Amino acid sequence: MPTPKTMRPLTAAQARKGLELRRKRIHYDPVNLAARYEHLQVTPRMPNFAAWIDGVDLSKPIPARIRRELRQALWDFEVIFLRPQPMSVERHVELASVFGKVSQGSFFERSVEHPNVEMIVTNRERPPGIDNWHTDITWMQYPALGTVIQITETPPSGGNTCWVSTSKAFDALSEGMKQYLMPLSATHTWEASGFRDFLGRYGEEALLQAMRLFKPVSHPVVLRHPQSGRDCLYVNSVFTKRINGLDYRESDGILKLLTDWLQRPEFMVHHAWEKDGIAIWDNRATQHYANADYWPQKRINRRVTFEDPRSPQAGINVFDLVMKGRKTDN
Ligand SMILES: [Fe+2]
Repeated sequence: MPTPKTMRPLTAAQARKGLELRRKRIHYDPVNLAARYEHLQVTPRMPNFAAWIDGVDLSKPIPARIRRELRQALWDFEVIFLRPQPMSVERHVELASVFGKVSQGSFFERSVEHPNVEMIVTNRERPPGIDNWHTDITWMQYPALGTVIQITETPPSGGNTCWVSTSKAFDALSEGMKQYLMPLSATHTWEASGFRDFLGRYGEEALLQAMRLFKPVSHPVVLRHPQSGRDCLYVNSVFTKRINGLDYRESDGILKLLTDWLQRPEFMVHHAWEKDGIAIWDNRATQHYANADYWPQKRINRRVTFEDPRSPQAGINVFDLVMKGRKTDN
């Protein structure tokens, strides 16, 4: 009986061709820095992802020409790093305003005097809890566009943050997989995350309030970035519950494949902090993971988020909203 065509071993020429195609898929031309940037010095940590930015003086207001190039740098490199430097709260908020409408804080505790500013203080009593791969708040219809963070107190050791490029991850998939994923959408919900247990500790009413206020939302599995034009893989292991229209077993399998794929080191930068270092990330083109290895040492993360201006939810404080009305349960 003849061997079916698909079972025949590859010829040497076919194998070479496959290898060439595979190489092509994980290659795209690096941004031409000289043509693109006049005022900033941009040093990529890998092609088209994660760059050091020099030339921003945060001791005074940020001029329009620098603001323009900073935006371009974020679209080109998806996560950008500024050298350690003192940054007042006012300047921190101003830096976030370069990229979008500044949020009033959405999830974490806020500074009383500066409601735009969230503080994540972790120590022995308050262990770190964001050691998972995620895009922020994809359980909202319009998730945050990105965040500016400064680590104002670093632990003596550990406490790195990792970012992964969701555009690189998509770009490296096989053509067949890309075509399969393109038309799909997925359901995202906070209920799939640890937030459910967290709220449960505040009582049944808090949980019900959150369920009433924040219903599951749908996002495309592949998101075309409006500024960079890159296609980004837009599912994450924390909030994405289901690929719509698929049998749950198929959905679970595809999600597992994609969230595993997103952890390839080729798409990832592993950032070691110095005190007062600054990072800015695009929340559509990246996922992040805050390494919890430094506990029980102390670390302080000061953050300001920028929102999608279309969002009717911009500026709301999720935690405050959810806590309203919970008293009946206490
Ligand atoms: Fe996050």
